[in-house]
Amino acid sequence: MLIKNLRREHTDQTPMWLMRQAGRYLPEYRELRKKAGSFLDLCYNPELATEVTLQPIRRYNFDVAILFSDILVIPHALGLDLKFVTGEGPVLQKLETQSREAFGQSLADLENNIQNVRTFLNPVAQTVKGVKAELSAEKALMGFCGAPWTVALYMLDNKPSKASDVTRTAAYAYPDLFDKLMDILVESSFEYLSSQIENGADAVQIFDSWASQIPDTLFEKALLRPTLKLCRLLKNKFPQTPIVLFPRGLSESKLLRLTDEGAGLFDGLSLDYTVDLQWACDNLQDKVCLQGNLDPVVMLSNPQKIKEEAEKVLKIATQKPGYIFNFGHGILPSVPVEHVAVLAETVQNWQKS
Ligand code: CP3
Repeated sequence: MLIKNLRREHTDQTPMWLMRQAGRYLPEYRELRKKAGSFLDLCYNPELATEVTLQPIRRYNFDVAILFSDILVIPHALGLDLKFVTGEGPVLQKLETQSREAFGQSLADLENNIQNVRTFLNPVAQTVKGVKAELSAEKALMGFCGAPWTVALYMLDNKPSKASDVTRTAAYAYPDLFDKLMDILVESSFEYLSSQIENGADAVQIFDSWASQIPDTLFEKALLRPTLKLCRLLKNKFPQTPIVLFPRGLSESKLLRLTDEGAGLFDGLSLDYTVDLQWACDNLQDKVCLQGNLDPVVMLSNPQKIKEEAEKVLKIATQKPGYIFNFGHGILPSVPVEHVAVLAETVQNWQKS
């Protein structure tokens, strides 16, 4: 059902998955997480990561499993120290950008490590294999990575959720080195996604969670060029594997530009919760499959409201073929599990008119 929608073919039902569906709102996740020790230990333990990937499928019968890993395993594989601090989130070693020489040397070190990415991330490939072996045939496994811009933000800025000054400064001060950083991330993400696809991922999503921070003047350099280059490499090697982009926080004109310039290079566009869904269906759905848009905070309200808001989305987005139900961003850890059951039931019972 996922693949058919990504090809914009008709399906009677609407496929569904949720960003961060394998995560802290699930008691069974919290329990396994404790057992594993740290979050990274969980990511690099194929047996436990397989189990966590499957937890939301078992509980809610979602159509799509999202691989359990993180976007920051790429910089980790490239040699940067990484830890996840409870209550703080990721703490990633920063690249040196004080001078052209220092930045250039940092990049040379990363570049030397591209050849190690596949070996370093082999545990994740084993997770893909493990999930595929257990997932029933009518369900799909979504692989993923971060988009070059969003991953770069974590390598340069201390708080990507608040500011992107260091990354933007680097793009202005050393435009050629910034391109080189994007290229390193394109190449290593290509290796990472290739290994996921070769081991059984049915589709892949590229998370550009902080695309909202890209200034207009850097849109080509930070998003269009690197992200579409990654798509082109994947399409050449795996023409049958659909690609979904999640560029969070882009204006309508930029979503149109991305869709036009990326024609044939990606298959699905995941919408954040600020996008006018009717506008997207009118202007984009004839070109790409759409995904998402529901405000994840709705899940903190009440069952009646959750059902209402989900049906609003379904009514608009399922008029044409090519829609995958999801949120406009990840589920919050404080969402009650029963509320997710109400959402799943609403989507699974929805009859297209
Ligand atoms: O269920 C899933 O979606 C699968 C696994 C997944 C995780 N991270 C697990 C995770 C996916 C697809 C991601 C993507 C990811 N990671 C993104 C892009 C999506 C988005 O939310 O915008 C980003 C920006 C990251 C980086 C990251 N990882 C941050 C900022 C944090 C801390 C904030 C938070 O939500 O905890 C993480 C940690 C993380 N990644 C957790 C999980 C389940 C929580 C870790 C824990 O158990 O404590």
